[in-house]
Amino acid sequence: MKEIRLGICGLGTVGGGVLDLIKRNADRLYDQVGAPVRVVKIGSRTKKPLFNDEKISFYQDVLLLAEDPDIDIVLELIGGVDIAKELVRKAIINGKHVVTANKALIASHGEELFSLAQKYSVSLRFEAAVAGSIPIVKILRESLSSNKISCVTGIINGTTNYILSEMAVSDRSFSDILSEAQELGFAEADPTFDIEGIDAGHKLVILASLAFGIPLSLDELSIEGISQISIADLKSASELGYGIKHLAVARLVDERLELSVHLALISATHLISRVDGAGNAILIQGDPSGETLLCGAGAGAGPTASSVVSDVIDLARNLIREQADQVKHLGFSTTAIKPRELLTQDEIVAPWYLRIEAEDNSKSIASITDILIKRDISKQTIVSKIIDASSNKIEIVIITDPSSTKALFDATEEISRLQSVSGAITKIRIEDLPSCT
Ligand code: HSE
Repeated sequence: MKEIRLGICGLGTVGGGVLDLIKRNADRLYDQVGAPVRVVKIGSRTKKPLFNDEKISFYQDVLLLAEDPDIDIVLELIGGVDIAKELVRKAIINGKHVVTANKALIASHGEELFSLAQKYSVSLRFEAAVAGSIPIVKILRESLSSNKISCVTGIINGTTNYILSEMAVSDRSFSDILSEAQELGFAEADPTFDIEGIDAGHKLVILASLAFGIPLSLDELSIEGISQISIADLKSASELGYGIKHLAVARLVDERLELSVHLALISATHLISRVDGAGNAILIQGDPSGETLLCGAGAGAGPTASSVVSDVIDLARNLIREQADQVKHLGFSTTAIKPRELLTQDEIVAPWYLRIEAEDNSKSIASITDILIKRDISKQTIVSKIIDASSNKIEIVIITDPSSTKALFDATEEISRLQSVSGAITKIRIEDLPSCT
């Protein structure tokens, strides 16, 4: 009986998790595929495997693995873009199927690699690139393919969700929690990718392509990180009945597409608000499906390995039956993939949360509200509390009615110039997400 031979490139958190899962669930893999699935080669630029398995050979030059005739499927788990791209290209040209967990690679070079894979009649799978163990690629590409999708939104970075949810329940510092997320294997090799929203941006680009049939492109994507957030914001939001989440949004507004990653206040009663730790949640609004919410583990060795190995099983099943993949990489036929007009951030209309530090005098609040009124921004709620009696400082929290980003930013710029106002003003959008119950 034919056996399916794998070459794993990269032995970091994900590579280690994949190797462990394939060994641990070898019987299940056999039962699912109908043939043995075996790791025969490992490539790692930095690490020689600690285990001693004579049946697995080791390459320090990972590119050699891409041309090894003993391998059917190459697993690209090294991350980054340059060497990963070379490896995937080389593997495809050598007739190998590829499974990758690399969102940066797919978001920036996906189309080139997909057309190369098509040319060489091989598959390039990337379920693990978005949302850890949640099978969102397959769901958008296959299970919901009959729908007209109007919105895909949610939490798609485990590290930032871990930081925000820990900050909400403890007084630990941002950097302390980030170090913990790194130790737990959630964060990227360079964690600024997580905290500045770049990782979520890569994943959002992939989701938007799958949902709306647009080309993979990082241009014009609006990205905000989480570094402006403070424990004071999380507490104030909670007192007003909201959670703060780092949200990725791809949604149609009058047939134009909003694509952004930003901090958002979400009603504490919404299920997405309750997704904590490294959890991810994705809400899909489709016609006629209505709302579908998927929650699960978004980062870490095991959850990512789950998706990588499920892709391997899919490909191995095809190989056993000598069948090609039936589904296009992004679901849509190549000629159907077209750009859409994007909505600029300035045009987006939403209610806002503002937190302003000011002097505790009768004029402070009046001058702030005058500026808002002048720009037609009405307020739903305004609360103030003393921060520090000795310094005569108060914190003013305002929830506005829906206003355009431009009007809001112009107003807060003017407010920041008031003499009574000190420090940066926190501005966070409030998202009224469709309910999923
Ligand atoms: N750093 C990523 C995250 C890993 O935190 O979500 C999973 O893609």
